[in-house]
Amino acid sequence: MSDAVKVGFVPFSATPKGVLVLFTDESLKFGPASAKILGGAAELVKRAAATSGFKGKSGSVLDILAPSDLKVDRLIVTGTGKSGNLKPEDYIKIGGATVARLKSSTEAATIVAELPSGPMAAADTASLASGVRLRAYSFDRYKTKKKDDDAKVKVSVSMAVTDVGAAKKAYVPADATTDGVLIARDLVNEPPNVLYPEEFAKRAAQLRKLGVKVEIFDRKAMARLGMGALLGVAQGSVREGRMVIMRWDGGKKGDKPVSFVGKGVCFDTGGISIKPAGNMEEMKGDMAGAACVVGLMHALAARKARANVIGAIGLVENMPDGNAQRPGDIVTTMSGQTIEIINTDAEGRLVLADVLWYVAKTFKPKFMVDLATLTGAILVALGTEHAGLFSNNDELSERLTQAGRATGEHVWRMPLGPAYDKLIDSKFADMKNTGGRYGGSITAAQLLQRFVDGTPWAHLDIAGTGIGAPSTDINTSFGTGYGVRLLDRLVSDHYEGKK
Ligand code: BES
Ligand code: MN
Ligand code: ZN
Repeated sequence: MSDAVKVGFVPFSATPKGVLVLFTDESLKFGPASAKILGGAAELVKRAAATSGFKGKSGSVLDILAPSDLKVDRLIVTGTGKSGNLKPEDYIKIGGATVARLKSSTEAATIVAELPSGPMAAADTASLASGVRLRAYSFDRYKTKKKDDDAKVKVSVSMAVTDVGAAKKAYVPADATTDGVLIARDLVNEPPNVLYPEEFAKRAAQLRKLGVKVEIFDRKAMARLGMGALLGVAQGSVREGRMVIMRWDGGKKGDKPVSFVGKGVCFDTGGISIKPAGNMEEMKGDMAGAACVVGLMHALAARKARANVIGAIGLVENMPDGNAQRPGDIVTTMSGQTIEIINTDAEGRLVLADVLWYVAKTFKPKFMVDLATLTGAILVALGTEHAGLFSNNDELSERLTQAGRATGEHVWRMPLGPAYDKLIDSKFADMKNTGGRYGGSITAAQLLQRFVDGTPWAHLDIAGTGIGAPSTDINTSFGTGYGVRLLDRLVSDHYEGKK
């Protein structure tokens, strides 16, 4: 994992080192521990704030070099706006925004986890620390010449807190979830010549170290299951496809599992219906759904979630080739339903059709949530702020929406219905794999719904949120890791047994 920071916890009384970070709000006051550290420098801060027009607004920063009266290199005062109503999501953002201010030369920083109203709660310090790690992440494994100005921030961050024990305890699960996000990002950012289906499956198999059971299906195994839709996509590549089933049994024995299913198209050229060249390299990220599922399974296992969880990913490469599938081909899915291929670039739904059916039939889960960079149309509809949510179940939808608000990984519900479903009826087979120009994200979801066998199900179209989104306070990389924190939260809020 590309980790640029080390986070530790120290008491308020520890001597700050390197860069000192303090928080204030629109009152421009400091909490008692911060005021004590500042001592005589409080006057300096007051004057600097007045001259620079610093008002303590959320995300604004006052930056003072070599402050006299303080034995630190630099003092950063971060505004939190109106600090009375900060949400967990806000603490993550504040942590990220703070790291953004550190220079690549910074070796040490002390962040004093205190607001004017008093010390931050342990859970909030854990969120802050997570934000620090999320923002510090960069993917530079393949850069052999690291110039000074693009060297990543490499820094040891001490979080000064009121109760070191409580903060450390709250940080353990938060850190496991953060690891999961960074694993997902790493997978998305890897180049497609390195991360092809077989290699991806190997990386997923590393979850065994955490006690996750991992089963890998090769082409022959999937052929025996009758997965003609997934294999139809895979057949154009010299690299074989894989299905990986991961299982974390942290809940009550015999309790039905919850399940997560990911689209893992390791590269999507479009196949015979080939894509234009512009930005095609971004299609290395067409496995972001699968990456999220692996990151999530890591998070759940590493924090020993009290839940039974299945993670399932369908891994293929969609290539043009003499053996590639053609528009006009008809494939038979594991469910027995047939699909006419209209456009070989609508491949994700074909992969998911077989994996969803396998999971529904094999595990009879409480629910299935799939994640897929499925359609360009969802970018047109929702941009990069919300994933599209499609579901046959109002309760699951509501829970996902709530988890989205709590984590800042937002979802927006989109419609499904018989009139849309009709659009994928085919003249020659049970259905076709595209539904025409309009409502492209919806007709894709309608096809998936035909393979859930009545299981409570939600589909998240993450084409906008999972890859290539603009930089935020907590991410500057191509792969966002979207969905790991969202689904970790869904599980912890609703599906874990008593602690
Ligand atoms: N992987 C793409 C969708 C995508 C587009 C993801 C942009 C991320 C960014 C998917 O396989 C695809 O090609 N979808 C087609 C469907 C069409 C042929 C019906 C699309 O969206 O154009
Ligand atoms: Mn495609
Ligand atoms: Zn695709």
